[in-house]
Amino acid sequence: MEHPSFSNIGVTPLSNALGAEIDGVDLSQPLEKAQFEDIQKALCAYGAIGFRNQKLSHQNQIDFALRFGTLEVHPIVKGMEEYPEIIRMHKPAGKPASFGVGWHSDNSFFDKPSLGSIVYAETVPPVGGDTLFANQQLAYDMLSDGIKETLEGLIAIHSAKEAYTSPSALEKYDSDGPISYTKSDIIEDFIEHPVVIRHPVTGKKALYVNAMFTHHFKDWTMEESKPLLEFLCAHATREEFQCRFKWEKDSLLMWDNRIVQHAALNDYVDYDRTLYRVTVNGTKLN
Ligand code: SIN
Repeated sequence: MEHPSFSNIGVTPLSNALGAEIDGVDLSQPLEKAQFEDIQKALCAYGAIGFRNQKLSHQNQIDFALRFGTLEVHPIVKGMEEYPEIIRMHKPAGKPASFGVGWHSDNSFFDKPSLGSIVYAETVPPVGGDTLFANQQLAYDMLSDGIKETLEGLIAIHSAKEAYTSPSALEKYDSDGPISYTKSDIIEDFIEHPVVIRHPVTGKKALYVNAMFTHHFKDWTMEESKPLLEFLCAHATREEFQCRFKWEKDSLLMWDNRIVQHAALNDYVDYDRTLYRVTVNGTKLN
């Protein structure tokens, strides 16, 4: 992994595969151009970047996110009443975690999947509730030349249907529980993305399939797709491609969904956890 140098922020890598913690930045204040450019550079280099001890209002989080592009209002997961672009990801004590559990890339079932996700932690368990990330550029690089050739030009079909009609999802529709879903036609869509994408800034290739939303390969049957898809999803999340982010109150983490996929852990049933997520609109993937 390459470690570029930075003049305007401190950067400490989180693993040998991806992820870094950034210091010397107060995200409640407008960022100077040079500092913001270093943050963008760190995001491209490390895929997921965390900031500790940030005292942020919802508006501060939105303002930071707006530096990267326009913000999404999720078609299924209801946002906060006053801030529709913020999803309050609350997991109450005594209940298992179910939102974002399992490897995925946020909103890969959109025609233009989310460029980045920006999450701020308000309440975290004393231990547990970490989020795992896996570097999909590294996962691609570590494939053999033979399989890389097979994947060249291959298109995968992504769908929200299975994830958003699972038993734990169905109970969220129109619920007054901590996370509420609204019905959307988007779950009937079958969306095409290349299996190997190029990052629009660095040009680096990455695998772009995930166990939660990737359904089958275009022009392949489900039976034909299953073995290769299972292999790719298992390969993509091998532990040597991973880092683990340990949430603390007032941590903010941003990740680039074109570089990483992630999985929230369901290992803190006795505790509350409240995070706030915004996602930045992405572009069509090539
Ligand atoms: C998600 O955005 O997928 C959830 C992440 C988390 O709760 O750790």
